[in-house]
Amino acid sequence: MEFSYVNPTHILFGRGQTANIARQVPQEQKVLVIYGGGSIKRNGVYDQVTEALAGHQWVEFAGVEANPTVETLDKAVAQAKAEKAQYILAVGGGSVIDGAKYVAAAALYDGKGWDIMEGKHRVKNALPLGAVLTLPATGSESNGGAVITRAATHDKLSFMSPAVRPRFAVLDPDVMKSLPERQLINGIVDAWVHVCEQYLTRPTGAMVQDGYAETLLRTLHHLGQTYPQRDNDQWRENLMWSANQALNGLIGAGVPQDWSTHMIGHELTALYGVDHARSLAIVQPSLLRHQIDVKREKLEQMGQRVFELPKTDDLAERTIDTIEQFYQQLDVATQLTEHGDNKPAAIEAVIAQLKQHGMIKLGENRTIDLTTSAEILQQAIA
Ligand code: NZQ
Ligand code: ZN
Repeated sequence: MEFSYVNPTHILFGRGQTANIARQVPQEQKVLVIYGGGSIKRNGVYDQVTEALAGHQWVEFAGVEANPTVETLDKAVAQAKAEKAQYILAVGGGSVIDGAKYVAAAALYDGKGWDIMEGKHRVKNALPLGAVLTLPATGSESNGGAVITRAATHDKLSFMSPAVRPRFAVLDPDVMKSLPERQLINGIVDAWVHVCEQYLTRPTGAMVQDGYAETLLRTLHHLGQTYPQRDNDQWRENLMWSANQALNGLIGAGVPQDWSTHMIGHELTALYGVDHARSLAIVQPSLLRHQIDVKREKLEQMGQRVFELPKTDDLAERTIDTIEQFYQQLDVATQLTEHGDNKPAAIEAVIAQLKQHGMIKLGENRTIDLTTSAEILQQAIA
């Protein structure tokens, strides 16, 4: 076990915490508030932010879409530069926060912003950034990653830099009250797969990381099982906190990580517009079945410790079945149907995208090549 770990994001958790952002954002700095399609105007969050920033100088950029595009975000970059913004405040879900990270980095770069996504510009500094989270799912509010799409070319790429990790994040579970069911379920599934990507690899005897990952999985599974009772403060608090903890760097420190479900899933979103979380539920069961031999021990461990399944010869197989049933119980599809009826063409299209993006050695052992991905897609596409 060998790692370097720091997570400096100041978390403000609980009801009414948005009121405290004024103390987090330096008084003298001009703020660019970035948000999405308008949900924050309907649920009162925009008013809370406006009230909290009453003593600050601030401007706003609206209209960051789900799966944020560089086409939209570059307009925010131009605004940040023109207005000489000194601080970025993201108010929204993963898309808005990721988009704000891109803006924070691109605002201090003179070249084309997309260079960041292609790795031609390594982000060393960015405008300071804070987040008011409205959708628990991605963990973006306290990590250094962002996923941005170039709509024109169907490229969905990610970048990571400690410079874009939010300085603070408000996690007020009350904001979830206005979430559409679809988004709430997406949050459970995305957080769940984040834990799996850092846990379902091979045993390394990392008792703390395994133990905490299992706690998060049991929690998320329980929240899924008690979904009918979701209109409840405790339920909301537990989802918001577990989604944050699932991808803030802690459970992944010093252990092998997979992320192949995410990389293949991103291509389904880029090509067919599938919601991020739903792309994962489509890929993961087939991927786990394909990779069962290398993942058998951890699947068995998960089966026993998370689902309390008895130890039998087919425990790993039954663990995967139970994961798949978990998605299906939440009404989340586990096969792609958005491609129409030409399955071979769809597989070919996804493989071409993976190839173009250099996703040719995926998984914790870097053994998922394009042939393997095609075999996985054979099962994942209806
Ligand atoms: O745009 P608005 O009007 O705000 O509506 C949003 C959007 O339509 C709505 N919404 C958000 N909070 C709401 C609300 N509606 C009512 N009430 C609220 N309180 O929900 C819709 C979806 O929002 P979005 O931000 O797209 O969802 P999510 O948080 O799932 O983010 C998905 C994005 O994050 C990326 C994904 O690839 C995708 O682009 N990811 C980012 C990661 C990271 N930075 O670490 C990791 C993830 O694996 C993921 O890849
Ligand atoms: Zn995800």
